[in-house]
Amino acid sequence: MRTLHPLIISLLTYLLLLLLSDLPSSGAGSGHDSQCGGADRGSTLRVFHVSSPCSPLKPPGGLSWEESVLRMQAEDQARLQFLTSLAGGVKSSVPIASGRQIVQSPTYVARVQIGTPEQTMLMALDTSNDAAWVPCSGCIGCASSTVFDPAKSTSFKAVGCQAAQCQQVPNPTCSGSACSFNMTYGGSSIAAGLFQDTFRLATDPVAEYTFGCIQKVTGTSAPPQGLLGLGRGPLSLVSQAQRLYKSTFSYCLPSFRSLSFSGSLRLGPAGQPIRIKYTPLLRNPRRSSLYYVNLIGIRVGRKVVDIPPEALAFNPTTGAGTVFDSGTVFTRLVEPAYVAVRDAFRARMRNATVSSLGGFDTCYSVPVLAPTITFMFAGMNMTLPMDNILIHSTAGSLSCLAMAAAPSNVNSVLNVIASMQQQNHRVLFDVPNSRLGVSREPCS
Ligand SMILES: *[C@@H]1O[C@H](CO)[C@@H](O)[C@H](O)[C@H]1NC(C)=O
Ligand SMILES: *[C@@H]1O[C@H](CO)[C@@H](O)[C@H](O)[C@H]1NC(C)=O
Ligand SMILES: *[C@@H]1O[C@H](CO)[C@@H](O)[C@H](O)[C@H]1NC(C)=O
Repeated sequence: MRTLHPLIISLLTYLLLLLLSDLPSSGAGSGHDSQCGGADRGSTLRVFHVSSPCSPLKPPGGLSWEESVLRMQAEDQARLQFLTSLAGGVKSSVPIASGRQIVQSPTYVARVQIGTPEQTMLMALDTSNDAAWVPCSGCIGCASSTVFDPAKSTSFKAVGCQAAQCQQVPNPTCSGSACSFNMTYGGSSIAAGLFQDTFRLATDPVAEYTFGCIQKVTGTSAPPQGLLGLGRGPLSLVSQAQRLYKSTFSYCLPSFRSLSFSGSLRLGPAGQPIRIKYTPLLRNPRRSSLYYVNLIGIRVGRKVVDIPPEALAFNPTTGAGTVFDSGTVFTRLVEPAYVAVRDAFRARMRNATVSSLGGFDTCYSVPVLAPTITFMFAGMNMTLPMDNILIHSTAGSLSCLAMAAAPSNVNSVLNVIASMQQQNHRVLFDVPNSRLGVSREPCS
């Protein structure tokens, strides 16, 4: 009763070791390895929060908690504007080609080795974008001193104007016979040439990966060392490495509060969790990059909140519906849905005095025990524990509900399940089977 038989102990130890040695992700993936220099193994890349000590991209220090929260929120606002334009919610805009827009700022980055010999870039992961691009040497206006130098790569080559890929970029032009293009977003514009080179992801080389080599940037919105689009469109990693990864990947995003551990991006069907709940992916032909799902309700604690069905309904024409996005930090719900959730949340807090912080309107200066919030998707309930619901000031004096209403000024019709709510979950994008899986996985 009291002690285990030694044979059983050694058997258990053996099984444990076997299990650990068998899992390709156990070190690289799930946050046990806190050393920044650790290698990416198999088909699994370590994922860093941009403010992590492992990231050279961390914003200039000295920001207070309030300042950094407000900064992330302000960046989210621009992100929502970008997603709304992708989703077709901006009435005046004509349909936008996938890969045309760029993100406002990176949140999570991973290492990609480009060229022969390899040059390392820390590229921002973006599930709502298709294109890949990096700043190249000679770039005018690029923020980073780390740039890709094409002249040093023997496998680098231009994409011709007649190539199919040249039709998939915005505003393509010919300089000589080489394809180049311009992208704009908000106050920023990017001029780039379209090229191909080997991208190595963890241990997997992907030959002739098509990407933009940035030659000129105005504005400050481009991720400093480039962007790796994980969307569903033709120029994304999912499409370009289709033979290798079968359009399947998953990630676990580490919390931005615990900065010294890394999450993981696991590419391909191998090693993906088997016990995971799925919801169908929905396809919007007009917005082929975005990962839409069917959100059918939201629970606060055990109570299903009363939300008008049209606030959640998928509509390919207007772009309305719900997407999973890695580039937005705090979940945004269209106004009627947010107000209903917020009011139910406040009621559960027994009417404690509410204050606000920037765009967060439900903050408490007393210790709070938050109810769980459950996103009810078709076929899958995703119940968020407190860590995915509340942000706490470092001093512990203020806690806020980490969600907000979609910005009204851009007429957003999109609900965005953002990275704060995805942290410490494995999110599996299974495009061939048209489904998205979620399971709890601590990786912070
Ligand atoms: C792209 O940008 C470059 C440099 O800013 C400019 O000279 C060129 O005319 C632009 N091309 C298009 C098609 O907008
Ligand atoms: C919260 O306030 C509302 C309206 O003022 C009141 O009806 C309700 O009973 C209060 N709830 C609690 C738990 O105190
Ligand atoms: C999700 O939760 C709701 C409400 O509690 C329940 O009725 C439903 O069956 C659950 N769905 C799944 C797929 O478990």
